[in-house]
Amino acid sequence: MKILIINGPNLNKLKVRSNEHYGHLSLSEINSLIVEKFPQIEFEFFQSNSEGEIINKLHQATHYDGIILNAGAYSHYSIAIRDAIELINIPVVEVHLSNIYAREPFRQKSVISKVCVGVISGFKEYSYILAVHFFLENKN
Ligand code: DQA
Repeated sequence: MKILIINGPNLNKLKVRSNEHYGHLSLSEINSLIVEKFPQIEFEFFQSNSEGEIINKLHQATHYDGIILNAGAYSHYSIAIRDAIELINIPVVEVHLSNIYAREPFRQKSVISKVCVGVISGFKEYSYILAVHFFLENKN
């Protein structure tokens, strides 16, 4: 099983962002935790601060069983990322470290949720772990 994990803008700066919302781990520590917990799965990790690069990565993602996407702030307004998710034939799980529904009104709406298989939000690094479990439980 092959899973692509895409992280969007500012997620490469987790250590200097709010611990209260995003936890204490850096992105590379989160990625290591995921690899440690699921040694049987092949992961590819991709982070970009650029909307276009995230879209290109989604377009190229033909050989994965699933994608876990934390699009960061783009989740709230990128119709372009939404359209890219819609056109690929791979299930995408939207994740957020923080509980976006308990935050500012502008974060409470995600324009990508409707084209994702589901949303996991608020469990800090465990949001990613829960998303991997979904793919594991649903593999054929
Ligand atoms: C986030 C939530 C977004 O609102 C924010 O812009 C982020 C991170 C999260 O993981 O909680 O960059 O996607």
